[in-house]
Amino acid sequence: MQESKLFELLHSLSWAEKVGQLVQLSGDFFHGEELSTGPKQKLGITEETVKLTGSVLNITGSETTRRVQEQYLANSRHKIPLLFMADIIYGYRTVFPIPLGLGATWHPELIREAFEVSAEESRSAGAHVTFAPMIDLVRDARWGRCLESTGEDPLLNADFATAMVKGLQKEKDGVMEGIASCVKHFAAYGAAEGGREYNTVDMSERRLRQDYLSGYKAAVDAGCKLVMTSFNTYDGVPVTGNEFLLKHLLREEWGFDGVIISDYAAVRELIDHGIAKDEKEATQLAMQATNDIDMKTGCYANQLEPLLKEGKIDPELVNDAVWRVLKLKNDLGLFEDPYRGATPALEEQTLLTPENRALARQVASEAIVLLKNEEELLPLVPNKDKILLVGPYGDKQDIMGLWAVHGKASDVVSIKAAMEKILSPDKFSFENGCDLLDDYQFLGEFGATKEQIASVGMTSEQRIKALDDALSAGKEADVIIFAMGEHTMQSGEAGSRTDITLPEIQKEFIRQMIALDKKTVLVSFSGRPLVYTEEVKQMDAILQVWFPGLEGGNAIVDILYGKTNPSGRLSMSFPHSVGQMPLYYNEFKTGRPLNSTTHRGRFISKYLDSPNEALFPFGYGLSYSNVQYSNLVLNEKQMTDQLTISVDIKNESERTCLETVQLYVQDVVGSVVRPVKELKKYKKVQLAANEKKTIHFTLCREDLYFYQQDMTFDAEPGEFIVFVGKNSQDTLNESFELLE
Ligand code: GLC
Repeated sequence: MQESKLFELLHSLSWAEKVGQLVQLSGDFFHGEELSTGPKQKLGITEETVKLTGSVLNITGSETTRRVQEQYLANSRHKIPLLFMADIIYGYRTVFPIPLGLGATWHPELIREAFEVSAEESRSAGAHVTFAPMIDLVRDARWGRCLESTGEDPLLNADFATAMVKGLQKEKDGVMEGIASCVKHFAAYGAAEGGREYNTVDMSERRLRQDYLSGYKAAVDAGCKLVMTSFNTYDGVPVTGNEFLLKHLLREEWGFDGVIISDYAAVRELIDHGIAKDEKEATQLAMQATNDIDMKTGCYANQLEPLLKEGKIDPELVNDAVWRVLKLKNDLGLFEDPYRGATPALEEQTLLTPENRALARQVASEAIVLLKNEEELLPLVPNKDKILLVGPYGDKQDIMGLWAVHGKASDVVSIKAAMEKILSPDKFSFENGCDLLDDYQFLGEFGATKEQIASVGMTSEQRIKALDDALSAGKEADVIIFAMGEHTMQSGEAGSRTDITLPEIQKEFIRQMIALDKKTVLVSFSGRPLVYTEEVKQMDAILQVWFPGLEGGNAIVDILYGKTNPSGRLSMSFPHSVGQMPLYYNEFKTGRPLNSTTHRGRFISKYLDSPNEALFPFGYGLSYSNVQYSNLVLNEKQMTDQLTISVDIKNESERTCLETVQLYVQDVVGSVVRPVKELKKYKKVQLAANEKKTIHFTLCREDLYFYQQDMTFDAEPGEFIVFVGKNSQDTLNESFELLE
């Protein structure tokens, strides 16, 4: 629709109709009158509100969305189509690895392809908007939503944010062929104190800007159409009512003119935060902060008109918000086609194609990180050794992670299924071995009934038999592969944990099996970094597989048997102990660093009972190749605008490999303290067997900008150190001077 017509439409609306466009309800309001009575009463809204609401949450499927849209438009005076928004975080029906695994690929271009698939599938299923990318920077593995993040580094997060937004929206000549992306959760939700979900976030504006905003900014610069507010406070003000963050920084400083939508019930939660005394005040705060859509509360629906009548809200604020929602609907072409071409036939031919599955397998292969490989136990040779696969994740198809809302476990390839395809029965056996958890009561928080909980897991007799069977089978095996990990529900939203080791029941089982003295491989499933200090001593090899998605089993077996040379590199540090949290590689030096020259022994910045460093550092990952770095060369020892840096890498193996060459920089002295190093460049490079390449990087002055003491964003002259290597610790170093 021409914008002039859209503008006329806006001003043809009544205030009730305008307010309706700013309300988002969940799907249960649209499944027939009898079903929606309860939810209406709970939210304190009327049937009229439902009729006027502008968007709906988490209804997908072309048949359903078409029916709901048809009914909605038939009852609508203004004929403004309903907007369908959903959580399609890392794949629709073709589910890719969780984003913490996607981050470990260090391959944004590949992830852009994956998100294009996600967009095609979800568009064919009637979705218009997805609440992705989630790009909250994370430094605390206790927080369950590490699962959804690409990790701890500002640059890597920004690159993935750009790739995901462009993949999802698929814009060509200004036409959005994909679906609208909604970057979240703005801002700094990942810095919740104690790693405790929904907890307070408080940090300096410098830290916010220097470390936490890069992903959101990249998403906005990539043209994301929506931004979702986060549940947390920032500087004492909950984000959903925070004018500094939403109005001044996001809209005025960054120029974001898209739709801001609150997170689930976050407008009303301004009351719980204690910053609004009632729904009217909460509504006023959120609208004045320029939050456009109220997700799933009755605040805007019930309070905006009274506030307008009482002159407590500038009508132009409401008109601006409605205009942004109408523009979004227009950008999606909804006025021309409210269904955007979604039909059951299109859905049928789009979902889960062989090409999509193949891409999911490649992404999962690149997401998996080889953490240990003692005496090169891996890769295994099919049918050479007798293999026992053991553990609760051995034949599990629920390996997609908590936010795979639209994935089907029946589509998933388990490790056992993948191994049976390549191993002969006399060389392979499987045993459950042990329960995933000792106690499943917490599933009640997700609505599981007592009977359902009772049906999960093994009885005590079954547990005894499972162990006996596993020990017997283990005695006959040459290699034992342990498929272990945290429960899907132990990470993701509201999945904060203070103990981030493998579940104790699994650790106890491993201790019993280790006594068999066989070659051992741990394949670990998790939505966060786990503490593997015990397993590192027990296992010959360790694969971190995250929740690898649809093709997880195939990808894992491809790596176990060498069809794929592992290339994953951690995008989040793995600790020795949960007590190290928060842990991140780009920390400050402190006045008493470990290598302090003026202080000795006790009186330096360290723990009495744990190393400072990560067990497995940011950027770490092994492969079946041994890549040697040499000859780090800076074209100048002094830099004004840019510096060319080169390094030689050689693949000292007979296998082709993918090597992620990482370049970090330290600003040795600044007007504020500067990190010990910061990732500035990286390249994922293929090397053929025994191939040597020279890799070149260009470092620009802008790469050295930071927020100085007066918050000027610029570089400061002085000494810098360049670190180039295969991870954040194992590097070659050279220094240079930045001139005025
Ligand atoms: C949830 C999450 C958010 C999600 C939204 C809609 O509470 O915080 O990430 O997109 O609600 O489901």
